Amino acid sequence: MSSAKLNLDGSEYELPVTVGSEGEVGLDISRLRKQSGAITFDPGYGNTGSCSSSITFIDGEKGILRYRGYPIEQLAESCRFTEVIYLLVNGELPTQAQYQEFRESLTRHSLIHEDMKKFFEGYAITAHPMAILSSMVSVLSSYYPEARDEEARELNIIRLLAKAKTIAAFSYKKSIGQPFIYPNNSLSYCENFLNMMFAVPAEPFDVPQVLTDALNLLLVLHADHEQNCSTSTVRMVGSSQANIFASISAGINALWGPLHGGANQKVIEMLQRIRSDGSNYKKYVDMAKDKDDEFRLMGFGHRVYKNFDPRARLLKKSADEVLEKLGVDDPLLEIAKNLEEVALEDGYFVERKLYPNVDFYSGIIYRAMGIPTNMFTVMFALGRLPGWIAHWMEMRNDPHGRIHRPRQIYTGQTERKFVPIEDRD
Ligand code: CMC
Repeated sequence: MSSAKLNLDGSEYELPVTVGSEGEVGLDISRLRKQSGAITFDPGYGNTGSCSSSITFIDGEKGILRYRGYPIEQLAESCRFTEVIYLLVNGELPTQAQYQEFRESLTRHSLIHEDMKKFFEGYAITAHPMAILSSMVSVLSSYYPEARDEEARELNIIRLLAKAKTIAAFSYKKSIGQPFIYPNNSLSYCENFLNMMFAVPAEPFDVPQVLTDALNLLLVLHADHEQNCSTSTVRMVGSSQANIFASISAGINALWGPLHGGANQKVIEMLQRIRSDGSNYKKYVDMAKDKDDEFRLMGFGHRVYKNFDPRARLLKKSADEVLEKLGVDDPLLEIAKNLEEVALEDGYFVERKLYPNVDFYSGIIYRAMGIPTNMFTVMFALGRLPGWIAHWMEMRNDPHGRIHRPRQIYTGQTERKFVPIEDRD
């Protein structure tokens, strides 16, 4: 298959075909406008390939997700998040020596500049941690100027990966009025974050293994998801050659929305609402089906997955295990399972292939770990950070890369004559 033919208004145009390594077929329309004057129209980009990428493969029909060729189930089972970071950013899993060096540099760069702490003083106590995270990541660019060569760029990437968890934990401490806990170089990435979240100066805190393992799994499962809204935003902003901190900050803001990463917070709020309203599942399923009602089942549905989300499967299983190990009995887990059962028996959800997505069970695990609801999307951002960085690098290293600039079909007024204000009725 090397080309396709398009018949438009009696003229025939040949469109080159591009085929990916998993056999995905794309029609290359990049010259179509020059040849015919027509553009393609695809609101929401549901059927548009914005780039070619060698980072993550998803088959939404079969529920397949692979980072750099490795199935998510295998990585979830036995890989540390820091290895996954290395894999996504560098393309290969690290050797032991590479891993030690990488881990060490991630640890060494965890501190944030002391002056940056002053910014935290300025945020309102009610500030959403996503607002703090996105603005503080942007602020990093004022401390670490634009990298001009490969080495400086790599250093900025390490800084970003290392400091994001510190900023995230500080944003939580700020919200509860506790002193910041500095990173501890003897701890792993996950332990360090949990220690900065939960330790207090007056008391030593031994990070429980069950928390470290649960966090590791959550971060691995969120690490990349090809051209989703936030990653496409990072690529879009980065395509103007904006620096990495500015580009990632934009991605964090894109993630915040309830249809994307903000859904994990909304799921818990929805489950709480259902519980306090007498656990009437059918009522909420009916509301979600009602087109005159804005309510949707949060944590349900996906643009790409049409049979199951492999991450949701792993998290459902993990929710049972983590809650049991922690001795937590959360009624919301039962409510989530019942809601899933009722929805999956309903014709509306079956016909539209709407299944629980990654956000449906993740919040229940975060809750059991003691992470407050308004931090859930920050947790998603920490997980997605390596994916965003890998895409930013891939885009910047593409010798054929161009600024992202879609077209539109204009539907406004055609030309009309300006009327001075005194002559307008
Ligand atoms: N509850 C009720 N109806 C739904 C839902 C839902 N959660 N999701 C989709 N639908 C319906 C939608 O109304 C539409 O119906 P119809 O064909 O009658 O117009 C049909 O299903 C197709 O949905 P869509 O909105 O066209 O699908 P999309 O690909 O544009 O949106 C989605 C995908 C994830 C934004 C959407 O399913 C949704 O809003 N889900 C709830 C929010 C959520 O859980 N987001 C997290 C996504 S996964 C993690 C991430 O990417 O961050």
